Amino acid sequence: MQKIFHTDAIEAMRGLENGSIDLILTDPPYGLQPHAKIRGGERWVSSFRKNSINTSEWDNLTDTDFADLMEDFMEQSYRALKTGGAMVTFCSTQKTADVLVAAEKAGLYYKTFGVWHKTNPLPRNMRIDFLHSVEMWGYFLKDAKTGTFNGEGNPVHDFVSCPIAAGKERRAGGGHIAQKSVKLMEHFVRLLSNPGETVLDPFMGTGTTGVAALRLGRNFIGVEKDAKYFDIAAPRLEEI
Ligand SMILES: C[S@@+](CC[C@H](N)C(=O)[O-])C[C@H]1O[C@@H](n2cnc3c(N)ncnc32)[C@H](O)[C@@H]1O
Repeated sequence: MQKIFHTDAIEAMRGLENGSIDLILTDPPYGLQPHAKIRGGERWVSSFRKNSINTSEWDNLTDTDFADLMEDFMEQSYRALKTGGAMVTFCSTQKTADVLVAAEKAGLYYKTFGVWHKTNPLPRNMRIDFLHSVEMWGYFLKDAKTGTFNGEGNPVHDFVSCPIAAGKERRAGGGHIAQKSVKLMEHFVRLLSNPGETVLDPFMGTGTTGVAALRLGRNFIGVEKDAKYFDIAAPRLEEI
């Protein structure tokens, strides 16, 4: 089962029943654009590459707007999750504190922050700076200290190393600069939920979380407010 909504994430989440979601796995805006602009990033990007976080219209939140969005998102996440349900949200390294503060304020139990290491990062600035190849993710639970964790007794590191979406998979995402790989999302879906359960992604972009969830036999609820990306996600999910 899949249900997708072309609307605002918080509006859609307000319409979800209390305690109806097993896993929230999402990748909200990063809130990085104001910093890039202050540092002259916009000018630099226009001469190098237009399709960048620095110019993506969906990532233009001010620091205050980002903190407010996180607060609303965490409040609705807490309400919509089942007891013991899990939330994993990606975020930039600069914003982990905002995510933690908002999640704990909403009542979510902090488990860990981990790293996604991109084995094929975009080759930018690589002769003058550290090559940017990591994103953070935060893992939280509702009203429990332990949730579903299908590690089969093996240690599961808080460090996931895999490529960004490439080739045919990338083309299916229509050029969304922040498209995640299905393999990355499958890692969390498999580990933190069970077949037949419901996975929510309120900032679904091109629908990658949904592809992972449906392929692994979970139900999926997705939300995307930008028509361009919603129209990519809808047929992509229909194909599964
Ligand atoms: C980081 S991207 C997600 C990319 C996704 N993981 C993928 O693989 O395609 C964040 C997405 O959230 C969407 N978005 C931003 N603010 C939103 C809001 N308030 N409600 C719904 N979607 C929103 C953006 O349009 C963007 O596509």
